Amino acid sequence: MQSLAQLLLVFGLVALASSSPTGIQKRGVYKVERVANPNFTGRNGPRALLKTLRKYRMPIPASVASAAQQDEMITKRQNRKKGKGRKGKGAGAAGAAAGAGAAAAAKGSAANGTGLVTNTPEANDVEYLSPVNIGGQTLNLDFDSGSSDLWVFNTQLSKTATQGHQVYDPTQSKTFALMQGASFQISYGDGSGAAGNVGTDTVNIGGATVTNQAIEMATAVSSSFVKDTANNGLLGLAFSQLNTVQPAQQKTFFDNVKSSLAEPLFTADLRPQAAGAYEFGRVDTSKFTGAMTWVPVNTTAGFWQFTSQSFAVNGGTPQTSTAGAQAIADTGTTLLLADAAVAKGYYAQVQGAVNDQQQGGFTFPCDATLPDLQLDVGGTMATVKGADIKFAQVDAQTCFGGLQATTAGLQVYGDIFFKSNFIAFNGGNNTLGFAAHA
Ligand SMILES: *[C@@H]1O[C@H](CO)[C@@H](O)[C@H](O)[C@H]1NC(C)=O
Ligand SMILES: *[C@@H]1O[C@H](CO)[C@@H](O)[C@H](O)[C@H]1NC(C)=O
Ligand SMILES: *[C@@H]1O[C@H](CO)[C@@H](O)[C@H](O)[C@H]1NC(C)=O
Repeated sequence: MQSLAQLLLVFGLVALASSSPTGIQKRGVYKVERVANPNFTGRNGPRALLKTLRKYRMPIPASVASAAQQDEMITKRQNRKKGKGRKGKGAGAAGAAAGAGAAAAAKGSAANGTGLVTNTPEANDVEYLSPVNIGGQTLNLDFDSGSSDLWVFNTQLSKTATQGHQVYDPTQSKTFALMQGASFQISYGDGSGAAGNVGTDTVNIGGATVTNQAIEMATAVSSSFVKDTANNGLLGLAFSQLNTVQPAQQKTFFDNVKSSLAEPLFTADLRPQAAGAYEFGRVDTSKFTGAMTWVPVNTTAGFWQFTSQSFAVNGGTPQTSTAGAQAIADTGTTLLLADAAVAKGYYAQVQGAVNDQQQGGFTFPCDATLPDLQLDVGGTMATVKGADIKFAQVDAQTCFGGLQATTAGLQVYGDIFFKSNFIAFNGGNNTLGFAAHA
C-alpha cells in the first residue's frame, strides 16, 4: 500500500519535472480581445446570483435557490453526477486518462494563427470570451480571475456534449504530451463544473506563449457549458494554489508567462457594450483617466483579494459596512456581491427598490435612475456607475440589480465593477491597480 503510494508520488514528480513550463518570449507585451458572447442565453439575475454563491460556497437563501435552476453533470458515459467541490478529489477522472494515452503519440499538424473574435456585444452581456491558441488550435475561452484551472472542451467528450463547440483535439497537436495519471475536477456556480484528465501543450494568447502549459481536458462537463456553444472552456487567472490538478498541482498560464513579460502583470479592460481586452505585460494608460491606485493583495486564500470595509452613495460620506471585510476581483463573476450593509444602504437611495423574496435579490423599477456607488478598494474609493448596476429585466417594469448582498463574509466584485473600472493584476508585487475607465 505504502509502496504504491510512493510509486504514484514518484510518477507525479517525474511528470512535473519533465514538463516544467517555460515562457519563450522576453520582455513582451501581448494583447487579446475580449468580446461578449452574443449567443449566451444565461442572462438571468437570480441565476447569476446563485452561480456566484455556489462558486464561493456561500449560504444559499431559499428564495435564491427557488428562483434559479440547477445544472446536472453530463458525462461521457451518459451517467449523471452533481458537481462536487471546487477543490474536488478528481475521482473517476484518472481512469479516463488511460484513454487519452494514444494522444501523446499523435501525429502533428501545422499551427493556425491566433484568430480574433470580432462580434458585436449586446446590452447587459454577461459572458465574455477571448481567443486562446493551444497547440495550433484556437478556442474561445472565458478568462476567470476567480479560479486557477485551464480546462477545455476536447475530443474525448461525446458528440452530444461537443455539438456546436470548438474542441481541442490533442491527437492533432504535435506539441501535446499526456501527463500520466493526472486528473482535475472543478465546480463553478449554478452547479456547473468539469472533470477529466490532463496534458501539456503550447499555449499562445495574443502572442504571449507558454510551452508545456497544463491543459485540463474535460471528460465530463455540466449541461450549462454544453448549451453555451460559444464558450469552449475557462482560463483561470487566480493564484496557482487553487489549481485542482491531482496529484501534482499545476501553475496557471499567467504564473508561467509572468517572467517573460515586460512587466509581470495583466490588465482587464472590460467595458459595457463594447469590445474590451486583456493585456499581458503593460498598463495602457490611455485606457483610464487620472492616476492608477495600487493596493496590496491578500493572497492567503488564492484570490486577488483586498480589504473593502466602507462605501458611499453618490459621493456622499463614506460609511463603514463591516470592519476588516475582504473582497475579490473576479472577471468570471457577473454581479457585484457586496456586504449586506452596502446593498441595503445603496438601494435605500433608489426609489421603489426592494429586497424581493420572489426574485431572490434586490430589484427596482426599470425606469429608476440609479446613483453611483463608491466602494473601498484597499483604502481608496473606487466608483461603480449607477448605469452599470442596472442588470437584467425580470418583468415588464422590474429590473434585477447588478449589486447584490453576499451571504458570507467574502465580497465578490465581478463584471459590474469592471465595467466602470480598468483593473491591473500585478503578480510581481501582488498588488491590484484600479482607475476609472477613460
Ligand atoms: C452564434 O450563433 C450563430 C448561429 O448559430 C453562429 O453562426 C455564430 O458563430 C455563433 N457565435 C459564436 C461566437 O459562437
Ligand atoms: C487575508 O485573507 C484571509 C483569508 O480570506 C483572512 O482570513 C485574513 O484576515 C486576511 N488578512 C488581512 C490582513 O486582511
Ligand atoms: C507595484 O507595482 C506597480 C507597477 O508595476 C507600482 O506602480 C506600485 O507602486 C507597486 N506597489 C508596491 C506596493 O510596490
